[in-house]
Amino acid sequence: ASAEKGGWPSFMAKEVAEQPEAVANTVRGRIRDGEVVIPELDGLDDLFRGIDRVIITACGTASYAALVGKYAIEQWARIPADVELAHEFRYRDPVIGENTLVVSISQSGETMDTLMAVKYARERGARTLSVCNTQGATIPRESDAVVYTHAGPEVAVASTKAFVAQITALLLLGLHVGRVRGSVSAAESAAAVAELEALPGKVAKVLAEEQAHVAQLAGWMADTRSVLFLGRHVGYPIALEGALKLKEISYIHAEGFAAGELKHGPIALIEPGQPVFVLVPSPRHSALLHAKVVSNIQEIRARGARVIVIAEEGDAAVLPFADEVIRIPLAGALFEPVLAVVPLQIFAMALATAKGLDVDQPRNLAKSVTVE
Ligand code: G6P
Repeated sequence: ASAEKGGWPSFMAKEVAEQPEAVANTVRGRIRDGEVVIPELDGLDDLFRGIDRVIITACGTASYAALVGKYAIEQWARIPADVELAHEFRYRDPVIGENTLVVSISQSGETMDTLMAVKYARERGARTLSVCNTQGATIPRESDAVVYTHAGPEVAVASTKAFVAQITALLLLGLHVGRVRGSVSAAESAAAVAELEALPGKVAKVLAEEQAHVAQLAGWMADTRSVLFLGRHVGYPIALEGALKLKEISYIHAEGFAAGELKHGPIALIEPGQPVFVLVPSPRHSALLHAKVVSNIQEIRARGARVIVIAEEGDAAVLPFADEVIRIPLAGALFEPVLAVVPLQIFAMALATAKGLDVDQPRNLAKSVTVE
């Protein structure tokens, strides 16, 4: 097993390091003449023109990729998109039909909850498309179409490289469907293609520049009993994922919140010394959203929170109120999650390691849950 880890202390460490490749391999072969064209979806143009609703379904980490996918599909394809946890989807009477596209996301392609949701959607006449990392798995076989993520085999229970590949595949899907439906402008499309091509290098930059810093932070926090994560827009699913990673492998109580919810409840949790990660959206995309999150930071800081900020390079507005600043390179709004999640993965991994835990095999969890 140590040979398979290629010199890394764990599969998780190896898989975190492989993320630039995972993103690059997922993009590869899907850009043609400066536009996103997913060859596996050739022949489905009429389907994409005919749908009026998208439901994205998944479990666990994949469901957070789904939340980012919702933004991508609405932004570029201009189709209403909702995210449903697979196990919540079929035990009611959801309104779906032949104009509904149900997109499932699963690294393994074998998660029983997700498989049952796909089967249910098909029986109800919906069209189904799966985003999957495992060639020939059950979920893609049960779907009308599949977009594979090319992250390579993921061994560690806690998903890392499959997650960034899932987000990448959903960005590609939004752009592909947007092109087919004529809803994405040439300028938007060109900008997105440039972002996709630059993304692997930026992930590598986060790894190179922040790994040691974040690991040191985690070392200092080995006795922490609770960590909160705040994010807004596509930073919200990343806050959820940061919290899940910490629960899964460090066994620390962690919660992710939409930053806008802070004043509606979670702020009551803030007491002196409470560590809070805050994902700060770029001021270049929305000065308003940025200002709102900076004001959240001020609010929790005033109540004694220990604030760890993840912000883009050059964002100086966060400096007066942050205990620690983790930097990510500049990227388009919907591309930031792929970068912002990396420090959170490293944090969870380093904290688990500091506590002497086995990061690859967390207690009570299975890599793929094949029972309902
Ligand atoms: C299990 C794993 C999670 C994973 C989820 C979905 O619960 O422990 O890490 O996110 O299944 O797995 P899938 O293979 O469907 O992406």
